[in-house]
Formats: sequence, C-alpha cells, structure tokens
Amino acid sequence: MASVPCDIPAIRAVLLGWYDAHARELPWRAAPGDAAIRDPYRVWLSEVMLQQTTVPHATPYFRTFLARWPTVGDLAAAPDAEVMAAWAGLGYYARARNLLACARAVSVHHGGVFPDTEAGLLALPGVGPYTAAAVAAIAFERPANVVDGNVERVMARLFAVEMPLPAAKPVLKRLAASLIADDRPGDWAQALMDLGATVCRPRMPLCDQCPLIEHCAGFAGGNPERYPLKAAKTDRPRRFGTAFVLFDDQGRVGLVRRPDKGLLGGMLGLPTSDWGSPDEAVVPPAPADWREAGTITHVFTHFALTLTVQTAAAQGNFIWTPPERALADLPTVFRKALALAVDGGDTARHPSAG
Ligand code: ADE
Repeated sequence: MASVPCDIPAIRAVLLGWYDAHARELPWRAAPGDAAIRDPYRVWLSEVMLQQTTVPHATPYFRTFLARWPTVGDLAAAPDAEVMAAWAGLGYYARARNLLACARAVSVHHGGVFPDTEAGLLALPGVGPYTAAAVAAIAFERPANVVDGNVERVMARLFAVEMPLPAAKPVLKRLAASLIADDRPGDWAQALMDLGATVCRPRMPLCDQCPLIEHCAGFAGGNPERYPLKAAKTDRPRRFGTAFVLFDDQGRVGLVRRPDKGLLGGMLGLPTSDWGSPDEAVVPPAPADWREAGTITHVFTHFALTLTVQTAAAQGNFIWTPPERALADLPTVFRKALALAVDGGDTARHPSAG
C-alpha cells in the first residue's frame, strides 16, 4: 500500500482554504467563516431532510418549510397533517413525525431554543448521533465528529483504508476524529461533506481538482476509486408478491397508507399481497378484470423482492391519486410497479422518492 506522511495541520489548512473558495451556496448555510448568523433551526431542518435525499431534491422542500414555518415554534404549532403533506415526496413519514416531535420538545421543554451541545441535542426525540453532531458543529461551532457516507469515503481514500465496509465504519470514524480541531468546526464538517459530494465522488473522483491530492494515500496508490472497500454481498433471500395498480374512471391510481410499523412504515403504497413464497395465495383488493403487466424486482436491505404487477379499472375505498403525483411521491419499489403499469417501466423520467 502506498503511504504519504500524515500532516494533519496541512490537511486542515488546505481543505479549509478550498472551502473558503469553493463552498456550495446552500439556503441553510452561512458563508464560510461566518459563524454569527447560523440558525440551529435551519441547520437541523436541513440535516434531517438531507439524511433522506440529495441537496438538489431537498432544497425546494427546505424553502417551503422555512416560508411556512419560519421558526421551530411555528413548526411545533403546525397540525400534523399539514407537516405530513408538506413532507410528501421526501420519503419516510417516520422522519416527519420525528421532526414534529423534536420541534415540540424544543418548544415545550427548551423555551424554543435548541440545546447547544451534542449531548443536549442527542437527548431530543428523533435526533440521532449524526444529526446531533452536525447541528452541534454547524450551528454551535462545537468540535463534533460529523460522519456521513461522504466523509467515510473521503477518509477511506485519504488513508487508503483496506478494511471493507461496514466493518470499517468505526475505523473511518476514528480517522475523521483525528482531523477535528477547535478551529472552525462547522466549516470543517461542511468542507468534508462538500469535498465528498463534488470532488471525492463515489465514481470518477476529480482528483486533479482535489486540495488533498498530495496527502491522499488512495491517490498515491494509483486507484483511489477502489476505496471504500465493500464486503462481498451475501445472497439475499428472495420474496415474491403481487402489486395491484387500480385506476378509477378519472385515471387516478388507488393507493393505501402502509401500517406505521414495519417496512416502509407510514408511507403511501400500492395495495399488495403478502410478500413470501412464490406460491402464496393472492387475493386482489377489489373485484375487477385484473391483467398482468409484468414483473419488477427491488432489493431491500434484507431481502430481494419480485413483484408481479396486476392492473385493472376498479373502484373502492383507496387514496385516489393522479399517477404523476404518485410516481413522484411513492417509495421506489411502488414507483417501479406503477411505472410498469403506466408506461412499461420507464422510471427514469420520474424523480426518486427513496
Ligand atoms: N449533506 C448533509 N448535510 C450537509 C451539509 N450541511 N452541507 C452539505 N452537504 C450536506
């Protein structure tokens, strides 16, 4: 393995200098070096949204939330249904529920003021270690270790970590911690994230534009893209089921709200059979002239799913939704099934809902 001397002060200086010149302008972000106007509400809201999706997808949602609920107190006072509706398209509703629970806790138990330490933030409902560290660093200039997937990748390359993920996670976290200092912790966290998102990209990293090129053991070894290593995938079990795409006489699609607990809990979905063995009995959700449109597959963390897609004109007690809306808002597995029924499976035209 190639090695380069690890000069932490130099790494910090060049990356912060790069951030001063290249920081992305984001609506929740103060300019580099400007710690004074950082608003923890904006930082927290953006971090919760960004755990769900990408910066371009989250940005309009962030603007809408901020225009409607300019302070954490305004959000805390909002009716649940309005917040859930505004969240539609951002993925898991459990996160929106946690968002509200946290806003209300800040409002009721902290007088509308976010705790300004990592431990205080971590004690809020729905705030996990990543969000607590991110808000502590970015809003309150605490030297917290903010490690997301981007930061893991930067560390794996910079230090040419040969251990594969996920086992390498604690190692990468310790390496990230070794670079933390009291100087500009918020800018440091965001500089690493921006570097990971724009230069040290998962594929085809732009090493010739990287401020850390001289410090990067991955680059010195000739193949930075091979990091982070990933453990060989074990074969997932496969489950089978049927998804039903019902169209009413206005061309709307019949959706159901999934149970709060379990996979895709609380999200909208297509009605489906149970997911299990291929010969499970299938009962359609309404009597109709059902026709098969084909099959789709989707890989979840713990299993792979093959869904047969059936379509029919039907009526009944469903959440009737225009197909374009459903294609934008549904979780990916249902989006695939609906796209197959609508236009033969072209999901590329529809933005990802996670
Ligand atoms: N991804 C998650 N949080 C971010 C932030 N604060 N800046 C840039 N990218 C991010």
